[in-house]
Amino acid sequence: MIRKYTFGAPLPTDAVIQNLLAEKDSLPYFTVRYGEDGSVILSLPLHPEEVLFGLGQAVRGIDKRGHRYESWNSDVFNHTEERPSLYGSHNLLVFFSPDRLLGLYLDDPGKIIWDLGWEKHDEAVITSLSGNLDVYLIEEESLTGIARAFRQLTGRSYLPPRWAFGYIQSRWGYASEEEVRTVVNEHRKRHIPLDGVCLDIDYMVDFKNFTWKPDAFPDLKRFQDEMKEDHLRLVPIIDAGIKVEEGYAPYDTGKAGDCFCKKEDGSDFVAAVWPGRCCFPDFLREDVRRWFGDLYRPLLEAGIEGFWNDMNEPAMFYSDEGLEKAKQQIQAVFSKEIDIEGFFALGGLMNSISNSPADYASFYHEFDGIRARHDTVHNLFGYNMTKAAAEAFAAKYPDRRLLLYSRASYIGAHRYGGIWTGDNMSWWSHLLLNIKMMPSLNMCGFLYSGADLGGFGADTSGDLLLRWLQFGIFTPLMRDHSAIGTLLQEPYRFGNIDAFRRTLQLRYRLMGYIYSEFMKAALEDECLFRPLAFDYPEDTFAKRVEDQLMFGESLMLAPVYEQNARGRYVYLPEDMLFVKFISLEEAENERFVEYLEDGTPYIAKPMPAGHHYIDVALDETHLFVRPGKLLPLLRPANTTAELDFTAPEVIAYPHGQKELAYRYYTDDGVTKDYTEASHFKNIVFTVK
Ligand code: GLC
Repeated sequence: MIRKYTFGAPLPTDAVIQNLLAEKDSLPYFTVRYGEDGSVILSLPLHPEEVLFGLGQAVRGIDKRGHRYESWNSDVFNHTEERPSLYGSHNLLVFFSPDRLLGLYLDDPGKIIWDLGWEKHDEAVITSLSGNLDVYLIEEESLTGIARAFRQLTGRSYLPPRWAFGYIQSRWGYASEEEVRTVVNEHRKRHIPLDGVCLDIDYMVDFKNFTWKPDAFPDLKRFQDEMKEDHLRLVPIIDAGIKVEEGYAPYDTGKAGDCFCKKEDGSDFVAAVWPGRCCFPDFLREDVRRWFGDLYRPLLEAGIEGFWNDMNEPAMFYSDEGLEKAKQQIQAVFSKEIDIEGFFALGGLMNSISNSPADYASFYHEFDGIRARHDTVHNLFGYNMTKAAAEAFAAKYPDRRLLLYSRASYIGAHRYGGIWTGDNMSWWSHLLLNIKMMPSLNMCGFLYSGADLGGFGADTSGDLLLRWLQFGIFTPLMRDHSAIGTLLQEPYRFGNIDAFRRTLQLRYRLMGYIYSEFMKAALEDECLFRPLAFDYPEDTFAKRVEDQLMFGESLMLAPVYEQNARGRYVYLPEDMLFVKFISLEEAENERFVEYLEDGTPYIAKPMPAGHHYIDVALDETHLFVRPGKLLPLLRPANTTAELDFTAPEVIAYPHGQKELAYRYYTDDGVTKDYTEASHFKNIVFTVK
């Protein structure tokens, strides 16, 4: 059951697709207070055993209790644990305690502060700064039921084409066709699978959207055609800002259509991003979305089938006004002898003018006859950029799925594209953060998502990348991406090629399962990644487990995420089959080895419910199969196009059952007739 309560005069966000009437009664369960600044404050006492799930893209745990979060789409380079916000705002929170199961969704595109047992451990205090919002209460029998009802409220998750589940290699710094070709060849010659290569801002002329360098990428269509002969896709980046430059077509046409966000005085708001001074399309306007979407056309016509939309919080390095103010402050410091205070003030000054609240409060959007100051609708910006692209793709290819993922997002954007989790670091703690974030993103509808595997900033190491990939092979978006200036991070750079190849080949072996589970989750409004509590709600230990995840119907994952670890402790809520894929050399030393049809060795060991320590060497990947479940596996190939999905072999854990069944999904992987019943096949396994 979902009930809606309205406070103030909420702005239309398009996040919710169900047309519910607001209740007349006052909001139950919560104490409501009204701040003098117009804010609305909801508070709720927390049970000592209460666990809080949700909030999508955020730091810290699967259980969100004990921190102060903010919904405020932020361009942040350091995802450290004190961060209140990251790039997306996903305002769903689920209260789960022995006497309460309640979903709370706030449809409010401005800033929200979530004090979740931070100031007082036994109280949640949630503040909408604007005070204009719709509050939805979701009450169902189970956690899964709440997640499903929320998806029904906000719409079906985006479905990417099947090739987008292949491995994608990326780096800020691939500067020419030749460099991309080399990256591809290095994968191919070692039989490391690969389906796509991202082009970062280096392919553009002076980082200007919708341009490509005539010398380095002379003929994008020819290059994409060449790559497609090998089933490879190029995935270019598009940023939100349009460079202010007369004679540059996107600026000229944007100007002619009056498409940019305006300051109070009616002039275009300008701030610097990668290309320098930029204007910002007013994506909240339908005509602007159409204009911007049309700008993708030459790239689509060059055969491009995938894009990533970036810097759409929107990120701003500095505005004209911010820079002027900073200059004055610098001059003031230097107008006298510099002192300690002045020295430290200067240090923080340039950072403080990036993404500044003053700038976000200085320009406006006009949509549906409304004039809204940017900070009141801030979290809708990236969402509407995604929508602009998705609508343009649908107009050009009504029946085809394209790859699209964004950095910034809001609930609703999950209908149009996926997200990646932004500029993490090559830190072990960020591998763990990736693990913890996946179920929260799934609850909020962002099924197609993933982190920069290996870490974006800072230098990675071979062991970190390998362990990260061992988890990354399960994330729908599987992309190794790193920042310019960091250590080169492609998997073939680190020796031990056999381990990297086996890990990536395992992704392709698992593709039938991953794709089936993804499609079922999307089409049936389920979560692909789930906290253990979703499947074992009565198990009081399971609900506290932060580093293991349920993955689809058959698997539980318990990744190794610590450096130098040779294994880990794991909790099994029920009997499970421990499956570990090992090297041929290791197989010679093992007594109970089994082999897949192509001779790939693995160990399959039933384990009773309870606590265990499992050995998992650096070059091994493991998973757990649930009782009575099947895991279909394919023969690996260099690309998804070359996989044979028709006749998977299975690893089964009968656990006393005579016959096991698995609902397997195959379609052509690109058209939109995904709901056809004929795409579902039943795989049956009979115990001999
Ligand atoms: C941003 C993106 C990152 C990209 C870089 C350059 O930091 O998050 O992925 O590589 O910009 O475009």
